[in-house]
Amino acid sequence: MAFPPGFLWGTATSSHQVEGDNRNNDWWEWEEQTGRIYAGQRSGEACDHYHRFLEDIEMMAALGLNAYRFSLEWSRLEPGPDQFSTPAIDHYGEMIAALKARGIEPVVTLHHFTIPRWLKEAGGFLNPEVVSLFDRYTKEVARALGKEVTYWVTINEPMVLATQGFLLGLWPPGHKNLAETLKVARHLLLAHGRSYRRLKEAHPGALVGLAKHYRIIDPLRSTSWLDRLSARLLDYIFNWAFTDSAERGRLKVPFGWGQGVNDLAGTQDFMGVNYYSRDMISFDLRSPTTLFARMRVREGSETNDLGWEVYPEGLYRLLMALKRYRKPILITENGISTGDDRQRERFLREHLHQVERALGDGADVRGYFYWSLLDNFEWAEGYRARFGLLEVDFATQERMPRPSARLYGRLAKGYGEGA
Ligand code: BGC
Repeated sequence: MAFPPGFLWGTATSSHQVEGDNRNNDWWEWEEQTGRIYAGQRSGEACDHYHRFLEDIEMMAALGLNAYRFSLEWSRLEPGPDQFSTPAIDHYGEMIAALKARGIEPVVTLHHFTIPRWLKEAGGFLNPEVVSLFDRYTKEVARALGKEVTYWVTINEPMVLATQGFLLGLWPPGHKNLAETLKVARHLLLAHGRSYRRLKEAHPGALVGLAKHYRIIDPLRSTSWLDRLSARLLDYIFNWAFTDSAERGRLKVPFGWGQGVNDLAGTQDFMGVNYYSRDMISFDLRSPTTLFARMRVREGSETNDLGWEVYPEGLYRLLMALKRYRKPILITENGISTGDDRQRERFLREHLHQVERALGDGADVRGYFYWSLLDNFEWAEGYRARFGLLEVDFATQERMPRPSARLYGRLAKGYGEGA
């Protein structure tokens, strides 16, 4: 069997999407503005995971899972500049202890899309100081929680954060500006590098990486050289430029002109992969914002409830492409939003089959994290997207394991025993 011993079978969540009552960050404020979130919804209580984490951890354990990826809410830990909250630190400490007591490996993300309000007011990711502010936050987290955690993700989906917030205007701060987008990506790279060093300095045994969103980007018409060129360009910029920069320690085009950055090289102990879908690209002069690439969903393809193509083979293709970095790989997110749980079961089987195939072909995959443990607040899509293995009744906060949850547990066990 291809799955290596000690393979991490987990689920993933992020603080703002599940904790509830995160009033002190930029998203809370954003949600109050009209027209930002589907049907005017708000994150509100979310899944109340902040108080119900024990119940949720028990459920993971009952399913037989051995890992959990979650994020720390910066705005809770540092509610005012350089003011760290002991209750918040203790809370995450308790969570980590509860996981470990049940044999569940914590994989901790420092930043998953939200920032404290005070930082937003200070210019957020556009302010070059964000690099040292993130470093200060990392330092405190490493001091307070570092001894108990091996796996760290510094930043979740930097390119998604930069494009949604600064190019497409769909997320806070709602800007549409290419120069700003590149600046933010640059700051995120530098922040990642510093944070990596900080964690390793405090705990040399820590394993630190990024959770990078990769998409399969294919030309719509393979006979058109313009479509092919457009797809390659977008693929490079969205998928690889950031990862390559962090690997080589240089600000690669379009973030810079290849100039070296101190301490950035080799700042990924593992390659974190978030994979969901594929885009078909045609060259289109009417799409200047996306560098003349128009994105479409492949005609006739299976889609999820949000209209994204379900394309399991894409995961195999990515894992093969990532082999070139010669690093262990963690699939830090992979999941489906669907009201039809049989589709989720199929999704899981098919994607895990592709992981198995990639392992057989030499990809060094060490873990898989289904997104998500719970139905939760899906950013601009609000609560209409249902990604959870556990169905949540948001009126009562009751959790109900879907059949796919049990299937995932069985698959993990089956693959694990064969390992
Ligand atoms: C993000 C999650 C999000 C998921 C589904 C990823 O882009 O990291 O926060 O909920 O995809 O859209």
